[in-house]
Amino acid sequence: LASIEVDLASVQTGQAIKVSWRGKPVFIRNLTPAEIQAANATPISELRDPQTLGERTKEGKQNWLVTLGVCTHLGCVPLGAAEGEVRGDYNGYFCPCHGSHYDTAARIRKGPAPTNLEVPEYAFKSDTLVQIG
Ligand code: FES
Repeated sequence: LASIEVDLASVQTGQAIKVSWRGKPVFIRNLTPAEIQAANATPISELRDPQTLGERTKEGKQNWLVTLGVCTHLGCVPLGAAEGEVRGDYNGYFCPCHGSHYDTAARIRKGPAPTNLEVPEYAFKSDTLVQIG
């Protein structure tokens, strides 16, 4: 199937889940207010792949960060979507293969990855139901 639907009702603030879409992992994180603030407070000039959190999320739903769980360096699955996993120096995701650190908007901040974690095509069907693809 080209698209999947994911019910987010049980994903608490600060939690993340990992789902599979077209054979790839997708991370969905319910950002805390502090994580949103950290992303929005980052000067765009500090970013290797300049994008705001607002550009990477849907209007009115800035807390829901949906990205592929595929490091843009050589394709490893970064850590940080599961409870207790390290999130790296910028509190987002960390790729242990060669040490890429992503921030709370899953933007590359340190390490060899050239670009941010990719945001797939997705849409909210209701307040807590998201369609990916
Ligand atoms: Fe992630 Fe190389 S594949 S840092």
